[in-house]
Amino acid sequence: MEGEDIKRVVREGYGAIARKDSLCCGPAEPCCGGNLAEGISEKIGYSREELQKVPRGANLGLGCGNPVALASLREGETVLDLGCGPGLDCFLAAERVGRQGKVIGVDMTPEMLDRARDNAREGGYGNVEFRLGEIENLPLADASVDVIISNCVINLSSDKPRVFREAFRVLKPGGRLLVSDIVLEEELPRVVRESTSAYLGCIAGAALRRDYVRMIEEAGFVEVEVVQEGHFPLDCMSNDPSAQALVATLNLPVERLEEMLQAVTSAAVRAVKPA
Ligand SMILES: C[S@@+](CC[C@H](N)C(=O)[O-])C[C@H]1O[C@@H](n2cnc3c(N)ncnc32)[C@H](O)[C@@H]1O
Repeated sequence: MEGEDIKRVVREGYGAIARKDSLCCGPAEPCCGGNLAEGISEKIGYSREELQKVPRGANLGLGCGNPVALASLREGETVLDLGCGPGLDCFLAAERVGRQGKVIGVDMTPEMLDRARDNAREGGYGNVEFRLGEIENLPLADASVDVIISNCVINLSSDKPRVFREAFRVLKPGGRLLVSDIVLEEELPRVVRESTSAYLGCIAGAALRRDYVRMIEEAGFVEVEVVQEGHFPLDCMSNDPSAQALVATLNLPVERLEEMLQAVTSAAVRAVKPA
């Protein structure tokens, strides 16, 4: 799959997830039993308190870290969330930047934005705005935001260098980038790389960690640093729809898949646009 095909598959896949009328959907479904999205979100770094203060439909368990917790947001700042989904990180950021600040969420899947806007209305967030758009062509002016966050999205782009160049363009001089994303310690087997379900599950499109850092540096960022890294909770995997599809395709026991996926990690990467 390349370029536009990838975008179509990703948009359709996440559109279907957004249309599901419950918290239990997408990759988080298996872990939840009752409320699975919350279960997985706590494992990847959100506190229960954070999860309880956002509108219920804002968390679909689609992230792989908690970028807001690491972004050192300040009152009055303008924050952009790349691939905001139903808005979880936007709402957490909105509280930190306060009424003088502003949060803009961008996502290319209309159903996700519908959900995000419903959530914003429900939570009464006056300082959050959602825009339909692609992270490779951001619908924002040059040098217009202080901080960019993103959670488990850039791995889904077939043109990651362009995403980082766009991020660089819209940040003000001295602006910060803090992204949580899936990266690889080594190449995955071809059969996994070519699996659509593994792509939608944020695995097949992931870059090697060193390439990820290099792409950010090549976009012009400085002080690029992996500030947190850990293995994605694989105990959730045995019931995960992407993993199940992979197991079926590969005809492998789930233990063997887990072994292959040891190379998959969730990293938080920080970078700065020179002042
Ligand atoms: C794994 S979900 C993460 C959503 C959100 N960040 C969260 O943590 O809940 C990925 C999101 O990125 C969006 N997305 C994927 N590729 C995109 C692109 N090229 N441009 C804009 N949005 C994209 C999808 O529509 C989806 O909402």
